[in-house]
Amino acid sequence: MRRIPLARPSVSQAEIDAVAEVLRSGWLSAGPKTVEFEHELARWLGVRHVVAVNSCTSALHLTLVALGIGPGDEVITSPITFVSTVNAILYVGATPVLADVDPVSMNIRPGEIARHVSPRTKAIIPVHMAGQPCDMDEIHEVADERGIPVVEDAAHALGATYRGRKIGTLSRATCFSFYASKNLAAGDGGAVATADEELAQRVRRLRFHGISSDAWKRYGDTTLRNWQAVELGYKANFTDVQAALALSQLARFERMQARREEIAQRYRRAFEPYEVTFPELPGRTHANHLFVLKVGDRELFRQRLAEAGVATGIHFPAVHLQPYFRRRFGDLSAELPVATLLSQQIVSIPLYPDLTDDEVAYVIDVVTRTLEELHAREVGRVTAVRRTALSHEAVEA
Ligand SMILES: Cc1ncc(COP(=O)(O)O)c(C=O)c1O
Repeated sequence: MRRIPLARPSVSQAEIDAVAEVLRSGWLSAGPKTVEFEHELARWLGVRHVVAVNSCTSALHLTLVALGIGPGDEVITSPITFVSTVNAILYVGATPVLADVDPVSMNIRPGEIARHVSPRTKAIIPVHMAGQPCDMDEIHEVADERGIPVVEDAAHALGATYRGRKIGTLSRATCFSFYASKNLAAGDGGAVATADEELAQRVRRLRFHGISSDAWKRYGDTTLRNWQAVELGYKANFTDVQAALALSQLARFERMQARREEIAQRYRRAFEPYEVTFPELPGRTHANHLFVLKVGDRELFRQRLAEAGVATGIHFPAVHLQPYFRRRFGDLSAELPVATLLSQQIVSIPLYPDLTDDEVAYVIDVVTRTLEELHAREVGRVTAVRRTALSHEAVEA
């Protein structure tokens, strides 16, 4: 039987050679390759600074620290995200405020953000779910007139554009992920992209123990240098092994994105008639990190795909429904009706550049047959309900 995983990183000989070169170089941690990657990504994005860190979670966390956000402050974000977005807010002692999402995009609604803004709001973190850019103009309208910084969670959105501008260039800071399943995979890793020199410097320092100069500059040459820890920092640096991988991925990135787009279009065309897809919104380029469907009977859908060897995932069960957050913040389901409902319906199917045409056809076949079955059951159920109603009427008559 076929086995199609949900995600698979695309690793070519170029990546293997690049990593081997670093392994032979004598410098494995953050060093010259990391700097080269930061420059290359900044150039590709068209942004002044990129600071590479060990994860998107750290990118979000250190950005919030650098912005001076702490206890007593509120940060507005989406309930449909990975828990790490909200965790980053909790790490700095601030209060996460969840604003409901749009059913058409799964993304946070600007109107809901406006409804939740208070004098304590110190940042807004929109999450570009699946790679679909949020309504950035409307979000900036709410944020800018109140002087609230926008920090984008672009873990899914490297390669996305909004009104012709790349995600990474629109807000005070944008945080990316290079986790193994992401569009640019370095095993793990993340980055903060910003035009703000001071913010970039602060994140640079925070990622390495609050020390003002990088380790490789201290140990990498024979010059005697002194270092000082000038604030409480963290251990969240990128490494040159990851940077070598990331640089090779960046060199192939546009080709990989084109392949994702091709597969996503085939899926969209095939599943459109069932009204289970999320549409591409005008004025944006979707990064196609995930392909998410909305189905009625998700358990049956997942079971059928598993029986056919096609893996599925849920991106994401809403944060407010997770046991830890329920315990800490109570039941927010009634305040977040769209996120609560979507959370029960969404399911992701395999989407990555190395899927072969044959595998894509197989996934389409399995999904289509399952959707037909779900549709037939639904029609059957509705007919049965109608029949029951009719027989009640008959009895009453
Ligand atoms: C929306 C979102 N934000 C943040 C993260 C955290 O990324 P990382 O694993 O690089 O910390 C993820 C990871 O899956 C994510 O999906």
